[in-house]
Amino acid sequence: MDDLRNTYLGQIAAAKDEATLEDIRLAALGKKGEISLKMRELGKMSPEERQIFGPKLNALKDEVIAALAAKKAALADSALDARLAEGWLDVTKPARPRRMGSIHPISQVTEEVTAIFADMGFGVAEGPRVETDWYNFDALNIPGHHPARAEMDTFYMHRAAGDDRPPHVLRTHTSPVQIRSMLDQGAPLRVICPGGVYRADYDQTHTPMFHQVEGLAVDKDISMAQLKWVLEEFVKAFFEVDDVELRFRASHFPFTEPSAEVDIRCSWDGGQLKVGEGDDWLEILGSGMVHPKVLQAGGIDPTQYQGFAFGMGIDRIAMLKYGIPDLRAFFDSDLRWLRHYGFAALDMPSLHAGLSR
Ligand code: DAH
Repeated sequence: MDDLRNTYLGQIAAAKDEATLEDIRLAALGKKGEISLKMRELGKMSPEERQIFGPKLNALKDEVIAALAAKKAALADSALDARLAEGWLDVTKPARPRRMGSIHPISQVTEEVTAIFADMGFGVAEGPRVETDWYNFDALNIPGHHPARAEMDTFYMHRAAGDDRPPHVLRTHTSPVQIRSMLDQGAPLRVICPGGVYRADYDQTHTPMFHQVEGLAVDKDISMAQLKWVLEEFVKAFFEVDDVELRFRASHFPFTEPSAEVDIRCSWDGGQLKVGEGDDWLEILGSGMVHPKVLQAGGIDPTQYQGFAFGMGIDRIAMLKYGIPDLRAFFDSDLRWLRHYGFAALDMPSLHAGLSR
């Protein structure tokens, strides 16, 4: 009995891993284990012998089981100690934030534009996407027979048979928000109006729904000079360049007089757009002095007040700034595209922290 005890306790103490412990357990306590066989021999003993050997064998069995369990726990402890010693965690390191979705380039650029114009004292105004044709056309000096109505590829809302009220349209531009802002707020007034607009058109640079931002400033003594300064400040801040040259090209819009389309100096060297240098010009917006009839439609006296206005494609300036080649991808909801061109959810653009970090 003492030999058995010494053998097994000695082996258990020397065991280096759990597999060895399991071998020892089988050799001692398995079906054909040495201690198990001895237990079976108890049956053949005389009652007197059994009284002596029974308790001793049971005690030995318990002792071996306890030694195995203790050694198993000790091995686990030292395995943990070893793992802790070699692979420790530096809890002073910064967390690695997991990205929870991203901000769409259109939302990002809308925020950037808003931050820049807010800095110049412009508030944000919004209007409905389903407009009456009065706000979308008539009030903007585009009467029913005007070719601009036909040119705009307008989506008209369905009217029931016999309902001959003038139709609602999906607004074709953000300009109707000029009228709504003037009627709501009166003069003086400084607003930008960002939002979705609709035209029946579809190719690499046109989608049936896209985004514009309208600008409107109404006050006494407003002139083209202020329009020019505001747009220059905007373009420098938006494209994050120190200097940029703008070209005002005479143009025509029914709602402004005079009207100008504005180009920025740029280069396309190596297929890469650089704003502010080079020999190319890129059209980015339409603008002008608000037509007296439009001020009147907005309830403002054109003999007292003047205004400047401009309208710009948000999707277009987003494509230019962030090098996005195909407009249609904006609206495909392709996760790979969104992850590539999207912006971190918590980085709000601001003038002091940087617009597009
Ligand atoms: N509404 C015009 C368009 O959708 C853009 C525009 C041009 C807006 C001149 C203006 C402006 O406010 O003054 O094409």
